[in-house]
Amino acid sequence: MGNGIFITFEGIEGSGKTTQIQLLNDYLRGKKIQAVLTREPGGTRIGDQVRQILLNQENKDMTSGCELFLYSASRSQHIKQVIEPSLKKGELVLCDRFCDATLAYQGYGRGVPFEMIDHLNQLATGGLKPALTFLFDLTPEEGLRRSKARLKKEGKEKREGRFEKEELAFHEKVRMGYQEIAKKEPERVVVIDASKNSGQVHREVVDRIEKKWNLKKYGTNW
Ligand SMILES: Nc1ncnc2c1ncn2[C@@H]1O[C@H](COP(=O)(O)OP(=O)(O)OP(=O)(O)O)[C@@H](O)[C@H]1O
Ligand SMILES: [Mg+2]
Repeated sequence: MGNGIFITFEGIEGSGKTTQIQLLNDYLRGKKIQAVLTREPGGTRIGDQVRQILLNQENKDMTSGCELFLYSASRSQHIKQVIEPSLKKGELVLCDRFCDATLAYQGYGRGVPFEMIDHLNQLATGGLKPALTFLFDLTPEEGLRRSKARLKKEGKEKREGRFEKEELAFHEKVRMGYQEIAKKEPERVVVIDASKNSGQVHREVVDRIEKKWNLKKYGTNW
C-alpha cells in the first residue's frame, strides 16, 4: 500500500515491545527518519476508549467472545484511521501488537476457534498484513519478572496480581502460540531471543530492517 512500510512488534507481556519501538524510533530520528508509532488495542480516540474497557481490572467477567470483538473493533478503527492513511502517504508505521496478538492470546491462549479469529482479523484489516513482524521470545517467568519491576518503578505495585501464578500456564500457551505463528510465516515473522539485553535486541531489529529496506529513501522527503 503506497510506499509505506508496516512493521509490528509482538510478544508476551514484559518481552520488550515498547522498549524496542522506542529504541528503534530514537535510532530512526538520528537518521532523520520520522516513523508513525502506534499500538493495539488503541491507536485512535475510539480505539483508546475500547482499550480502557479491555484493560479495566473490574471487567474480570468479560467473555472471550466479547474480548475478541472489542479487539477487532479497535483494530478496524485503527486500520481505517491510522494505518492505511499513513501507508498511503508512504510512511513507516511501527505498531505495538497487531493481529498476531489476537491469534496468540484469544486463539492459542483462550481457545477461541482460529477460523473465527482469522475471519474477524480479515474483516478488521481488509487483508492488510505487516511487511515484517518482530516476535520477542521470552519465558513467561522472565516476562513476569520484568513487568513487576516496571510496575514497581512506575509506582503501580497494586496491579501486580493480574499476572498471577495460575496465569503462568496461560502465558506459556500464548508464547507457544506466537512460536507457531512464526513457524507458519517465517518470511514475515522474525523471532528474536528477548532474554538478551535490550541493546543486543535493538541491534538485531535494526539489522533486519536495514537488510530489507533502504531507509534513506524514507528520510529524505521528511
Ligand atoms: N532486553 C531486556 N532486558 C532486561 N529488561 C528489559 C529488556 N527489555 C525491556 N526490559 C525492561 O522490561 C520491562 C518491560 O519491557 P516493555 O515494557 O518494553 O515490555 P512490553 O513487551 O512492552 O510489555 P507489555 O506487553 O506489558 O506492554 C521494562 O521495565 C523494560 O525496561
Ligand atoms: Mg508495552
